[in-house]
Amino acid sequence: MGCSFMLVCMCFTLYVYPHLSSTAASGLENEVDGGSLYPEILRDEAVSRLYELGKVSDAEGYLERTFMSPASVRAGYLIRGWMEDAGLRTWIDKMGNVHGRADGSNPSAKALLIGSHLDTVIDAGMFDGSLGIVSAISALKALSVRGKLGRLVRPVEVIAFSDEEGVRFQSTFLGSAAIAGILPASALQYSDKSGSTVQEVLRSNSLDATEGNLHELKYDPESVWGYAEVHIEQGPVLERVGIPLGVVKGIAGQTRLKVTVRGTQGHAGTVPMSMRQDPMVAAAELIVLLENVCKHPEDFLSFDEHCKDSSVKSLAGSLVCTVGEISPWPSASNVIPGQVVFTVDIRAMDDMGREAIIYEYSKRMYHICDRRSVSCNLERKHDAGAVMCDPELTAQLKSSSQTALKKMANEFDGEVPILMSGAGHDAMAISHLTKVGMIFARCRGGISHSSKEHVLDDDVWAAGLAVLALLESDM
Ligand code: GLV
Ligand code: MN
Ligand code: MN
Repeated sequence: MGCSFMLVCMCFTLYVYPHLSSTAASGLENEVDGGSLYPEILRDEAVSRLYELGKVSDAEGYLERTFMSPASVRAGYLIRGWMEDAGLRTWIDKMGNVHGRADGSNPSAKALLIGSHLDTVIDAGMFDGSLGIVSAISALKALSVRGKLGRLVRPVEVIAFSDEEGVRFQSTFLGSAAIAGILPASALQYSDKSGSTVQEVLRSNSLDATEGNLHELKYDPESVWGYAEVHIEQGPVLERVGIPLGVVKGIAGQTRLKVTVRGTQGHAGTVPMSMRQDPMVAAAELIVLLENVCKHPEDFLSFDEHCKDSSVKSLAGSLVCTVGEISPWPSASNVIPGQVVFTVDIRAMDDMGREAIIYEYSKRMYHICDRRSVSCNLERKHDAGAVMCDPELTAQLKSSSQTALKKMANEFDGEVPILMSGAGHDAMAISHLTKVGMIFARCRGGISHSSKEHVLDDDVWAAGLAVLALLESDM
């Protein structure tokens, strides 16, 4: 295949500064440089809310909240209560997104949206998504307790999105895509493993989303100024450079595939090895193929005059591929499976490079399946193009983050790092509505999508202070 994907800048801009100690701000409990640190709201209460939300789970012993599950609904009500406590007007929309809005001094001005997601993966950490919601509510509460909400020059709306992880329906951004107006009406008919559709699970929670009214959720782009999202980094860079906050330059595009391999079900003790059409070993070969293609794209993509070596190197710098779920049928130790289904998650900053990889992988996949006399079917379940954050909004978020870090540690006099995001975020969907920007908060060991995910209390505080600084810069 002719390879002509474009070179995308993968450069990280990293600046190394001394580690901001967790006690850096002790003794600075109140006013600094005319601003306040609000430790009781932005750190203590925010941290206790994150732990409280981290206990709202559908599972015993680990955190799991998928789209509109009982725990997600409980989490939504908890968040709504915190929004009201911060003086916000609240509502829940037909896709289960929870909104809290302060109208400020000019209710008809374009609104700043701030949000993240309330759903989680299975066996999740408690900061992914929740940090962005809690830090935004805390920052608004800090204004509210000082009677300053009415001084906001534009409405500010916090949105806790109902689905970013896509665990239940294999399609991410059900909530934020509806608000951005890019959710196809057909999404209401997606079904989960038990056969329930998106529409049915919404209806069972008295939310009547229909093909006819889905468009009502879409925000008018003219009514929105921009979107900011705080999220944990989910990677190791901030910890390595010793800085609690960073800002995001761009977010990798992603594709999710479902691969179904069908063979001949049979008795594990009686069918000779030479006579099997075993979909499990075919799936194993396909999974190893995926690893090879994604580790060494240069060995698989053909070169032409459009495809320079540097383009492939650039693709290789961000390309990551994962098989995270595999289900054999009927799944018994003495049965050769009749069918194996597995998921593929492919991400890269370079959309054309990602397409080239999918093309190459599927071509080779069908060869392997032919050779093994099994049938293979590949379905695309989700696609999101890479997104570049708005440079001006990013500069504002960078300056707000620096203000926050400076308030917490006077010796901080540098710039926060600029990172690329390999993880997907609601900002990707909202970029179809308005300009977007993101702040990342440092997490221990760069670990996420794991119960080991951890953010220092003072880094939660830094995140809240950065949102507050953003809001105060617009007063
Ligand atoms: C969401 O966390 C994703 O990147 O899959
Ligand atoms: Mn996640
Ligand atoms: Mn997330």
